Amino acid sequence: EIGDARRGETIFRQCADCHQVGSDAKDRVGPHLNGIFGRKAAANDGFGYSDGIVRAANDGLVWDLRRLDAYLENPKALVSGTRMNFRGLAEPRDRADVLAYLRGFSDN
Ligand code: HEM
Repeated sequence: EIGDARRGETIFRQCADCHQVGSDAKDRVGPHLNGIFGRKAAANDGFGYSDGIVRAANDGLVWDLRRLDAYLENPKALVSGTRMNFRGLAEPRDRADVLAYLRGFSDN
């Protein structure tokens, strides 16, 4: 168990201007986040990723829990040149909860 998925749904409002999850999820400003756990970075076909995250993916970035946590804390610190313009979630609990919520949309 990562965190509290129900609380994470509320935290996800901070992501929802750019990201969707669920059966009707589409790419918007950011890629949809279904199936993100265990997936290689920048692997959502049809989304135009930044050169920075494509480079990180080519260097082996896979979205496990530790990497997702680091990206949400400070996106540009983990992925130099990422286009995700989000200040990050400073509170570990907020990250754990939003990741618990996202995990509900992943098989891994
Ligand atoms: C990428 C999560 C907030 C815009 C990503 C990725 C994750 C993620 C996991 C990597 C996707 C992949 O590799 O396929 C989140 C979460 C957020 C959040 C959980 C809230 C806590 C935002 C916000 C925006 C945004 C607010 C827009 C201002 C993007 C963009 C990318 C991205 C444009 C692609 C990055 C690139 O091409 O470098 N996000 N995000 N995200 N996100 Fe977010």
